[in-house]
Amino acid sequence: MNYENILSSFQNNITTITINRPTKLNALNKATIKDLHEALKRADNDKNTKVIIVTGSGEKAFVAGADISEFANFDSKKGKKLAKKGQELLFSFIENLSTPTIAAVNGFALGGGLELAMSCHFRIASDNAKMGLPEVSLGVIPGYGGTQRLPQLIGKGRAMELIITAGMIDANQALNYGLVNHVTTQAELIPLCEKLAGKITRNSSVAISAAIKAINANFKDGINGFEVEVSEFGSCFDTEDFAEGTTAFLEKRKADFPGK
Ligand code: COA
Repeated sequence: MNYENILSSFQNNITTITINRPTKLNALNKATIKDLHEALKRADNDKNTKVIIVTGSGEKAFVAGADISEFANFDSKKGKKLAKKGQELLFSFIENLSTPTIAAVNGFALGGGLELAMSCHFRIASDNAKMGLPEVSLGVIPGYGGTQRLPQLIGKGRAMELIITAGMIDANQALNYGLVNHVTTQAELIPLCEKLAGKITRNSSVAISAAIKAINANFKDGINGFEVEVSEFGSCFDTEDFAEGTTAFLEKRKADFPGK
């Protein structure tokens, strides 16, 4: 499939999706959000894709935000629609994918860029990365889930400070805050993501998808995460992966999960 603003490649059960508008620092315009939605849906439906890595092209930016030129003349009605549609198509969509998704933050991750990284299941950054939600400096607030996911990841006080100062933090501060899980050099960023992805691919994809659902349930209003855990735990017992995983353990061999 050909995309306008992204590249998608597949190797060793990993689909890597690269946002490819380097001259605009990979800013998320409507077309890019649509491409990302399609590519993510395709990867999630592909039985051979066990992990998705999302990154930005070039050496400067992961994504420098939503494309400001596209919404500069919007009114409140259009603004609400922009946020709602974006959340549905991309940000909440990624968070709820069954396939684990890693953000490889290779440079600026600002505004919608940080919101994209935060929607992924976890984040690894290169040491040149800079992160922030600078929307209030433009007279607007984060609209792609940033006011919700940043406090979930780093706590309310830190999120409040970062958002209302429109500040930027570097990769090591992000590591210190728990916003990213690891920091490495730019050259080692994708290899490290692939190494972690490799570990994931050896496990049961059915159980991983159940774990993602149960963990996400903790952050959903009106849903009891413990109940979701009980239900997902129970469902695992009827899967072929569970039969293979437990049998392999008892037979002292490596499991070969069918993914069912
Ligand atoms: N939307 C649209 N275009 C963007 C963009 C965005 N969020 N971020 C960068 N670009 C474009 C610039 O307009 C410029 O395009 P041009 O060459 O056609 O003029 C190009 O990307 C390069 O950016 P530039 O600002 O020249 O790079 P820089 O190194 O001087 O600064 C940043 C880098 C990231 C600090 C700066 O681009 C920036 O502040 N971007 C906006 C960040 C932001 O507010 N994001 C939240 C949006 S809601």
